[in-house]
Amino acid sequence: MRVYVTRAIPQRLCENIAEVGEVQIWDEDVPVPREILLEKAAEATGLLCMLTDEIDSELLDAAPRLRVVSQMAVGVDNIDVPSCHSRGIRVGHTPDVLTESVADHAVALMLAAARRFREGMAEVVEGRWGSWDPWHQLGVDVHGTTLGIVGMGRVGNAVATRAAAFNMDVLYASPRQSGPSSARHVALSELLTASDHVMVAAPLTPETRGLFGVREFRAMKPTATFVNVARGPIVNQAALAEALDAGEIFGAALDVTDPEPLPPEHPLVGLRNCLIVPHIGSATVRTREAMAALATENLIAGLRGGRMPSEIEPTTA
Ligand code: DGY
Repeated sequence: MRVYVTRAIPQRLCENIAEVGEVQIWDEDVPVPREILLEKAAEATGLLCMLTDEIDSELLDAAPRLRVVSQMAVGVDNIDVPSCHSRGIRVGHTPDVLTESVADHAVALMLAAARRFREGMAEVVEGRWGSWDPWHQLGVDVHGTTLGIVGMGRVGNAVATRAAAFNMDVLYASPRQSGPSSARHVALSELLTASDHVMVAAPLTPETRGLFGVREFRAMKPTATFVNVARGPIVNQAALAEALDAGEIFGAALDVTDPEPLPPEHPLVGLRNCLIVPHIGSATVRTREAMAALATENLIAGLRGGRMPSEIEPTTA
């Protein structure tokens, strides 16, 4: 069996994989170029891949021996999962191990947007820090306000837990009533008008692609913040830039954009009330090591024909 790993992972994990097959690794610090991925996939029985690798039908057609695709991420929108399943290829991902780190990060972004960290830091770095002023750099409160979470999966639930410590009321919009009993399931339209802070924590699906556009931002309070820790394409970024620029919403903090990286000349990058960080929600040492370990376990179990700890099961629908 041959396994292709599309980014460096800890040596001990490579050694584990080597017990089931021959391992090759792309260990540059940029994503593997498409032509190399296609060439390697053609020989591979297993792929341990990243969210930057497009696992589409072109690749699957070129990979007749492929039996397992194991992604080192929870989101699998870069993988054509139904096409994998229709070819008998098993798909693994890494939920749970990253939930708490992503939730920490989501709350950090909400606080940063509410308290205008980007503008404050720019003043310090650019030598514009004037004397203390009682009316300068005023933000909006987080404690005691209403948080609206769009998508109430593992991360949404973990954010809701943290929100309780800030004495926040939590609303959520999600296809299922999957939130804690302290949170109220509402329609997206109600969430938008009632929330002081709106956070997206939903997977990218055909239903969520472009979910936030002109109408949604206009429905929000002018004092509201917007946080996205899910996937960039859920948001119409031109609409977000306009809403921020026109003061239709107070501020935004984005962990994810479309595309990634977002070019520095993109209108969102220049907006003083928009903080953008480079898709680092799960980026702690402990969590990334746990994700790599789980992706490796999924891969090995799948190649051995055993139970994968986190497999995306084929749907019967
Ligand atoms: C994921 O896992 O899907 C995140 O976006 C990266 O950790």
